[in-house]
Amino acid sequence: MNLKQLIKKMTLEQKLAQLSQFTADCLSVTASGAISGPAGELALTKEQVSATGSTLNYIGADMMKGIQDEHMQNDPNKIPLLFMQDVIHGYRTIYPIPLAIGASFDDQLAEDCCRMAAKESALGGVHVVFSPMVDLARDPRWGRCMETTGEDPYLNSQMARAMVRGYQGKMKGKYDVAACVKHFACYGGAEAGRDYNTVDMSMRNLQDYYLPAYKAAIDEDVEMVMTSFNLLNGVPSSGNKWLMNDTLRKKWGFDGIVISDYNAIREMNMHGYCATEKDCAEKSIKATCDIEMRSATYLQQVPNLIIEGKIKMKDIDKAVLRVLKLKEKMGLFENPYLVADGEKEEKVCLCKEHREIARKAAEKSAVLLKNNGVLPFDTSAKKVAVIGPFADKGMIGFWACLGKAEEAVSVAQGVKNLLPDATVTCQEGCSSKLNETDISGVEKAVELAKESDIVILTVGEEAYHSGEGNSRAEIKLSIAQQTLIKQVVKANPKTAVVLFNGRPLVLNGIIDDMPALVDAWQPGTEGGNAIANLLFGKVNFSAKLPMTFPKTEGQIPIYYNSFRTGRPKGDDSSDAGYCSRYQDVGNLPLFPFGYGLSYSTFQISKPTLSTNVITKKDKLVAEVTVKNTSNVDGEVVLQAYIGDDYASLVRPVKELKDYKKVMLKAGEEKTVKFKITEEMLRFWSANDKFESEYGSFTLWISDCSDTGESVKVEYVKKR
Ligand code: NOJ
Repeated sequence: MNLKQLIKKMTLEQKLAQLSQFTADCLSVTASGAISGPAGELALTKEQVSATGSTLNYIGADMMKGIQDEHMQNDPNKIPLLFMQDVIHGYRTIYPIPLAIGASFDDQLAEDCCRMAAKESALGGVHVVFSPMVDLARDPRWGRCMETTGEDPYLNSQMARAMVRGYQGKMKGKYDVAACVKHFACYGGAEAGRDYNTVDMSMRNLQDYYLPAYKAAIDEDVEMVMTSFNLLNGVPSSGNKWLMNDTLRKKWGFDGIVISDYNAIREMNMHGYCATEKDCAEKSIKATCDIEMRSATYLQQVPNLIIEGKIKMKDIDKAVLRVLKLKEKMGLFENPYLVADGEKEEKVCLCKEHREIARKAAEKSAVLLKNNGVLPFDTSAKKVAVIGPFADKGMIGFWACLGKAEEAVSVAQGVKNLLPDATVTCQEGCSSKLNETDISGVEKAVELAKESDIVILTVGEEAYHSGEGNSRAEIKLSIAQQTLIKQVVKANPKTAVVLFNGRPLVLNGIIDDMPALVDAWQPGTEGGNAIANLLFGKVNFSAKLPMTFPKTEGQIPIYYNSFRTGRPKGDDSSDAGYCSRYQDVGNLPLFPFGYGLSYSTFQISKPTLSTNVITKKDKLVAEVTVKNTSNVDGEVVLQAYIGDDYASLVRPVKELKDYKKVMLKAGEEKTVKFKITEEMLRFWSANDKFESEYGSFTLWISDCSDTGESVKVEYVKKR
């Protein structure tokens, strides 16, 4: 199709409608042509609604087809709608939240999950998924940590790439959907972890930590980018020309569609950046934000901006062309439904194969945080108590798209499935309310614990305790949940605590009471089966924390790749004055990034190097031998960290540069090699670019960010 020709035929209003996205409830024009409801509130006209370019928030293929049919009848240019949806961790078969997927350190797993989500979405009529969300998160108070893959730019970048590959394939297959990386940029840097809050950061913090994962998605050819709600150094992202035009498009070469977040263009007025809606539209168009989501400043303000010469028609045409190109690429002009099919959708969603992917993902993302030996439980247990507010509840988490909690397997159900001959009894003990103090149910739970062989104690957060708008100032368990843990463990020490959470939680004051602790995150449709398999040793743990667990909220922000200070305090054991430390809790976190136990034990050698010098073109190979010293088969995540000892801009003590998952049979030993290249040594320098500097570096290869023997590497001009 000649898209430029088509654009020539379009009126300005029709072009602006292509650049506008409204929720599905805005799109219906009644027989009389009257506009009411949400579209009426936005003061949209019938013509504008009929020519709209894209939509979000609808349910399933049948609804999608109905909307598309109506649209195709009314649209004067017969341009099909693009259907977009928040497919964040699954469409209907829900796999663990992205933070959990980060914990898997398994790129292939992330890709497989997104591939599965793409198929279900495509059958459900989705063309674009608003994922991956790659915002770096260092503040667990922020509710949207659950949507990120954590605190590390390298892990986030690898995950971003894997997810884009999973969704998009080569954008040729029938189940390939377009991905939309978000939220550009630095949404995770919100001050004090309060959602939508200000982000203020230095250029090097931005370049070294916050921007790389978006760039990784661009390098993987992601089709779309979504702006973020926040101010970045004084400018809201949706009107930020430096971000969108100069960085994303000019520097990184992105030629796809940029969409604003929901109402974010109009919110530039609330931010105090634009005095009027007209100003909002002008700033966003000039910044090259193509589609306005759920507000109508483009439709209502751009015509006057064009008349006044403030915006050029050619810029509008460029934006429209980008939108039409994606429609053409996806084949919508030939078939406006693509593969949407209600019957197939019903068949494929939650099919055995998809449930298996979801189960595997939940198994590979649950982190064993503590085990005094009580786990794995004996499968010969006859009486199993499942206690706590989440004992018999499907835990699918926030942003679960079309997923339903009642279609998910609870822990109690998972144990019943695994041990059909055991008696599995549930007792809530207390409610899940954040500030619950009512402990009247604890007594019954204690009675049940006493008469049971083993106890699984489920605590933590509901889905809606994290996610958008759900920040928390205190991230502890409620008094009621803490009391429940203490009393139940006292009654039966053969207790394993299973934590459901969308963020790291503060567990100080209660962790010592727990014989074993499993972080199950929000594990999704197959959560219960996965948890049962892990607790009873059918499957081994392999996941590692993608975000640091602080001891207390006062330590936040706390992350592994931090700087030394001129007065460092190495550990918390000694009482050194006048150094960088907290007197009351020390500096160390409860659990660091990269931490996670297994039923196996591993011994990792000190790295040996092929040579200890590298040059710009000569890499080196670092090698470790890793041995499974236990009698249980297990998988270990080897993590390669590098620290730049001295630099013109001081570097963090260490940074993750690579990771590999290695499967080892009981007693088995393997040699694992890591390539160390000059590229790994680069950072954002005072010359405003990524460069490396000659000098000495420290290298660790370990199974956690705070352990491992190190070796020195020299970066030199010539060998
Ligand atoms: C707001 C959220 O910030 C964004 O992540 C989401 O994709 C849009 N709403 C659309 O639902």
